[in-house]
Amino acid sequence: MIEQFKKDVDNGLSATPKTLPSKYFYDKKGDDLFVQIMNLPEYYVTRAELDIFTNQTQNIIDALQLNPDIYFELIELGAGDGLKTKELLKLLDKQNYKFDYLPIDISQNSLNNLENTINKKLPNISIKKQQGDYFQVLESLKDSHHPKVVLFLGSNIGNMTDEMASNFIYELGESLCAKDRLFLGVDLIKSESIVLPAYNDSKGITRDFNLNLLLRINRQLEANFDVNTFRHEPEYSEKEGVAKSFLVSDVKQSVYIKAIGKTYTFEKGEKIATEISRKYNDVIIQKIIKKTDFFITEKLTDSNNYFSNYVLNRTISES
Ligand code: AVI
Repeated sequence: MIEQFKKDVDNGLSATPKTLPSKYFYDKKGDDLFVQIMNLPEYYVTRAELDIFTNQTQNIIDALQLNPDIYFELIELGAGDGLKTKELLKLLDKQNYKFDYLPIDISQNSLNNLENTINKKLPNISIKKQQGDYFQVLESLKDSHHPKVVLFLGSNIGNMTDEMASNFIYELGESLCAKDRLFLGVDLIKSESIVLPAYNDSKGITRDFNLNLLLRINRQLEANFDVNTFRHEPEYSEKEGVAKSFLVSDVKQSVYIKAIGKTYTFEKGEKIATEISRKYNDVIIQKIIKKTDFFITEKLTDSNNYFSNYVLNRTISES
């Protein structure tokens, strides 16, 4: 883990323009900050998807074409606090569906918290938490041959480039059986006046979330980033449909990373690209899934038209 972190930081800071992967936002501090982001008035993303899970729960069940008499596995990639999923679990339980809930997460800590809340609030739900890498866990579940529904919510796919997203969905298909389904949550393209504040909140929580990446490098790789000399700068292009986050060096400076044994120089105004948050429409989703064996069967959208959940089925027939 630490070796990969070192390698990714070195590659990113040696490149022109400089980059750092957003997956490293999520240490303990980053997880806490992200929970705060999800509750910010400006961050509409979580509320918009929760609106679908709360007000269209039966539509979700219908769109997934679930059969109450056939056992299935409800798998969630990166479940977090399960806020939205709990709405679905509640109705499935009430309607006596036969299923296990299998949240997959890299963080054992968040899985334990999720298990505790589910056990407390929905004691009938059988939860089988799976810690680890998504694809390794899916591979280990492949032999079960029970029907599977995979939830990938929160527009988490949006932190990948379209090419990465396409490869990711292709790989997901490889880990599933013919009739398994994917329920994908994506943030929709909308105006700058709505998107930009979501990544530039007035309390500065998103700024701290972004800067925490430099603090993490200081902590884990013994670096000497002075976070007071970097500012958080988000951008959004409605035409492109992509929000980007940058850390910009306010001064010309050098930073030493002891664990790597290298010094990196920054010009005044030089940017480090830290995250992309892709926004979607049907055309973009179609393009992404074109190279996979999935196709869209249903789409649910929230009352503000901010967010959609797509049901993706597979084109291959049962062998
Ligand atoms: C996790 N992911 C979908 C969030 C997003 O909106 O891209 C991460 C985030 N970054 C800044 N604010 C939230």
